[in-house]
Amino acid sequence: MHRDPAPLTARRHGPLKGRVRVPGDKSISHRALILGALAVGETKISGLLEGEDVLNTANAVRALGARVEHRGEGEWRVHGVGVGGFAQPAAALDFGNSGTGCRLMLGAVAGCPITATFDGDASLRRRPMRRVLEPLERIGAHTLTSSDGRLPLTLAGARDPIPIVFEPQVPSAQLKSAVLLAGLAAPGETVVIESEATRDHTEKMLAHFGAELRFEILPAGRRIALTGQPELAPQPIVVPADPSSAAFPLVAALITPGSDVVVEGVMLNPLRAGLFATLAEMGASIERIEARNEGGEEIADLRVRAGPLRGVEVPAARAPAMIDEYPVLAVAAAFAEGVTVMRGLKELRVKESDRLAATAELLRFNGVAVDVEGDDLIVHGKGRAAGGGLVATHMDHRIAMSALVMGLASEKPVQADDTAFIATSFPGFADLMRSLGAELI
Ligand code: S3P
Repeated sequence: MHRDPAPLTARRHGPLKGRVRVPGDKSISHRALILGALAVGETKISGLLEGEDVLNTANAVRALGARVEHRGEGEWRVHGVGVGGFAQPAAALDFGNSGTGCRLMLGAVAGCPITATFDGDASLRRRPMRRVLEPLERIGAHTLTSSDGRLPLTLAGARDPIPIVFEPQVPSAQLKSAVLLAGLAAPGETVVIESEATRDHTEKMLAHFGAELRFEILPAGRRIALTGQPELAPQPIVVPADPSSAAFPLVAALITPGSDVVVEGVMLNPLRAGLFATLAEMGASIERIEARNEGGEEIADLRVRAGPLRGVEVPAARAPAMIDEYPVLAVAAAFAEGVTVMRGLKELRVKESDRLAATAELLRFNGVAVDVEGDDLIVHGKGRAAGGGLVATHMDHRIAMSALVMGLASEKPVQADDTAFIATSFPGFADLMRSLGAELI
């Protein structure tokens, strides 16, 4: 898809104040559409994230034979075709900027006797797919064409899927989910053993739809066993607000003096809440109001007031629980007093951009001292940032939003060269921030 770059500048103005709700969780939204498509009958979804990444997944399941209806804002219905029931698509499936949509759907297609071509934008075409193709080939799928394990690639799904035991070499919920989705079509038990626990939305939603899963903690990690060939029964899904999107207004409020902001209904799944734990250790005031359970997830309204922050050490073991939040944490770290060390960020190099490099660059361009040592990011916080930088966003929505958050509190304005990709995960971001008093022009 061709798009014109959309530069945007953020400048310091005044405190941020108000109550907002951020869009639905991206991970849960992708999974709701995919499981809805693999169930028999109608799945009702409310609060679906209508960002480009998720809309591409909706188009993909449609192209594979599911009926997907948009009934109103966030209200969707999916009429599924059953496990193994996808039809041969007439054209290539385009996942745009989304690694999650693409990798989860590789898994879902791998269990069906069809051939499909997977493609995406320039950012997605650079990202590694071998990691997911390798276990899918063990299940019985074949990669027909692909250059160096990148998109575009054509996958022939398994005629007779074989259940496997898979121990991922990288902590990745996408990888785990792809194998479980392919394993749905295999007879017997598909097993994933994760040495580091990653977000568990796929497992939870599969159980919600009636699949049989067994969990065990082994010395090697968390063992997830899925019994294949279930009949998935549609269940209503209410998508909670995305903590990875909430991170932007929350950090903006923390570093903009005088701010007091509430973000409503944020999902606080422990495997996603690493940022909030880290900010609390930095001395942030984040109050959980009306903690409650909705749709099987813990949620709460989060009230944040600006205040001083101090540098901390973030252990590598926490990375899976906050993998998408490091760019905006690095911005918070610039406004903290003292050094923040973030360890074990190898996976950031293969996100929508090389996020480790892009985050370091974003801070450096704005007068913040940063070191990258191996896979660690070290930010020398001075309680302030000069700003004045033009940030290259590298087709990465989270780099764009982090740059703008920085500009709201730095001495000089910060410009993001292209904010068009924010629409992949957080449509309405700029207006939501403006409603809190942010100056974005
Ligand atoms: C996601 C998993 C993570 C994360 C991505 C969403 C998911 O990727 O970065 O934004 O929904 O499963 P990895 O599985 O590659 O860590």
